[in-house]
Amino acid sequence: MPTVSLTVNGRPVSAEVEGRTLLVQLLREHLGLTGTHVGCDTSQCGCCTVHLNGKGVKSCAVLALSCEGVTVTTIEGVAAEGRLHPMQQAFHEHHGLQCGFCTPGMIMSGLDMVRRKGNDLDEHTVRSQLEGNICRCTGYHNIVRAIQAGARAMKRA
Ligand code: FES
Ligand code: FES
Repeated sequence: MPTVSLTVNGRPVSAEVEGRTLLVQLLREHLGLTGTHVGCDTSQCGCCTVHLNGKGVKSCAVLALSCEGVTVTTIEGVAAEGRLHPMQQAFHEHHGLQCGFCTPGMIMSGLDMVRRKGNDLDEHTVRSQLEGNICRCTGYHNIVRAIQAGARAMKRA
């Protein structure tokens, strides 16, 4: 089987994968990084969102073998020195989760939103930018508040 080498959460890794192996499978099944979730088989739910070379992508829609030499950040890689990232802290403080299944993808999308749209996010922007992330249990209100608060907190951090 071919080998793919990449950097995940700052660590160089290599794995033997099949041509059909997806990035999300590489992360979860080969590297044991199970914070990245699979919530659909249609690339709709966004639970699998990670950052690839700094940009948010749905890792269920990326072939592992196409990731040679790339840099990937997963939810396991966003907290520094044992402290929650401000966006994670905001989800905690604003109760932006219920079962938590969608939360890793929401946080990774929230961080990507800040990268693209800045730290002052109005509600409409957050809601429209979250179109690719499905939550089955919170009704989104607290997720939206959490992303807005997390984005503001990142400016102060
Ligand atoms: S598992 Fe990737 S979008 Fe649902
Ligand atoms: S918190 Fe349960 S799916 Fe979103």
